[in-house]
Amino acid sequence: MTDTLPSASPSASPDAATGGSAGAWWRDAVIYQVYPRSFADGNGDGEGDLPGLLEGLPYLADLGVDGIWISPWFPSPMADGGYDVSDFLDIHPMFGTLADADAVIARAHELGLKVIIDVVPNHTSDQHPWFRAALAAGPGSRERARYLFRDGRGPGGDEPPNNWISCFGGSAWERVTEADGRPGQWFMHMFALEQPDLDWTNPDVLADFDDVLRFWLDRGVDGLRIDAAPAMGKAAGLPDADYGDVAEFRTLEWTDNPHWDVDTVHEVFRRWRRIADTYEGDRVFVAEAVVNGPERLAKYLRPDEMHSAFNFPYMKSAWDAGALRSVIDATLASYEPIGVPSTWVLSSHDETRLVTRYGRRTTSSVFITDGAGEESDLELGTRRARAAALLMLALPGGAYVYQGEELGLPNVDDLPDEVLQDPMFARSGGTMRGRDGCRVPLPWAGEHPPYAFSPAGASTWLPQPEGWDRYTVERERDDPGSMLNLYREALHLRRDLPGLGAVGLRWRESADGVLDLERGSVLRCVVNISSAPVALPGDTQVLLASAPVDAGMLPVDAAAWLRPA
Ligand code: GLC
Repeated sequence: MTDTLPSASPSASPDAATGGSAGAWWRDAVIYQVYPRSFADGNGDGEGDLPGLLEGLPYLADLGVDGIWISPWFPSPMADGGYDVSDFLDIHPMFGTLADADAVIARAHELGLKVIIDVVPNHTSDQHPWFRAALAAGPGSRERARYLFRDGRGPGGDEPPNNWISCFGGSAWERVTEADGRPGQWFMHMFALEQPDLDWTNPDVLADFDDVLRFWLDRGVDGLRIDAAPAMGKAAGLPDADYGDVAEFRTLEWTDNPHWDVDTVHEVFRRWRRIADTYEGDRVFVAEAVVNGPERLAKYLRPDEMHSAFNFPYMKSAWDAGALRSVIDATLASYEPIGVPSTWVLSSHDETRLVTRYGRRTTSSVFITDGAGEESDLELGTRRARAAALLMLALPGGAYVYQGEELGLPNVDDLPDEVLQDPMFARSGGTMRGRDGCRVPLPWAGEHPPYAFSPAGASTWLPQPEGWDRYTVERERDDPGSMLNLYREALHLRRDLPGLGAVGLRWRESADGVLDLERGSVLRCVVNISSAPVALPGDTQVLLASAPVDAGMLPVDAAAWLRPA
């Protein structure tokens, strides 16, 4: 690239303001995201569960991650993959019991793994006793005040109270039938119909959630991921939104939206932080906050709010040297002044699997539907995903790895309609296939489904494709060139390189399409996203490469970790 004269290093120097958290575990931790329904099935019913997770923990410790984030494990009718919670203080019977959860936390800690759980405060399930009580109690009741019930507009209140849209398509309002059988008030749901939004200005909601946080912090979890954090604040009076030309969820682009990233939400996080800070050890909040730009995000990361946040702009970036460089620079420039470590992430339970996305013409992801259905060259996508893993793990701060990413699993794009479970599919009238394709159960061993995810003969909740024997943990473990071994080696090296966590990033001058970064004298990482092989600097030693390096030449769509001279 021509514009890459060495730039000032936004270094995480020990002197940087770190809010007193210098050296805290989470500042450069690599966290593995467990989607429990698809990780491992311990009881043979085709659904992943906590006994399965318990058994898989040594695999994760050996992989070299520092902790796990477990997607929701609470009782839930599963209208939105568990993000529709019907009891925040228990475990879904499909996953096990509270005793199983305690065992997972204890075993993880024995293995040196931190545990982050997923709290979903914006909404509950429509089966939650709070919502059922709200329906029963009627308009004007204290029970209804927990949620956003409003009278409709127009004659007979037949029109929704405002024009807000749901993330999964259609209006964000649903009308209820009152006890007398007549059409009544409307309730607001930012996500699926089965996920009514709580009113975060309501004192009962605030008090009950204090108890939820304490319940899990008391059980020993090290962190809480706050799902859909910017959705929790709503502008007073619930005014209409101005969506411009696209009435679609575009949260990275929205400014002044009355139901997203409204400033009142920060009061709640300050209250929570005061609670977490009363606990021993470093207990952390991780925000899922997809908002417009670093300044808005920085508000969530003020010293008395959340500790860290997912880096959506990085995850969604195209496989393009200029785009990656600018999102890395923008991230570091926004985090460094506030003393917060950045995080880096390539995929999640909400995104098309990376090897599939990177094998398509459209390599960026703005929304789940972008590029969907495009042909994917999986070999190309895999090459790029390998290089992307080395780039991500070379960056300063923390990182997230979504289960199966370490195996190079592709998206399953041809799941039959009748097995699809994501509410996106039904709510969009079938135009969006949704996120099931990245949630297919992991292949552990063997030649055919269920690949030891479940005992032979069991059918898994989403069918696994034939041909996944090449991606099993068993197979990849024995293959030195596998994605699994690449992740494993990178994670171990990252941990073993002395002082890596303490040094920031500095760019070296590089050719167009090439990223060349240095972390002090500890690590240098060169990524080739140009159209021809590039020569690696002669005065370095290759520690790890995503593709064979021949005669010092780094192939296209490859990355190398080097020991600086
Ligand atoms: C978050 C979750 C997603 C869920 C949504 C609603 O974005 O990651 O899976 O559908 O919140 O809870």
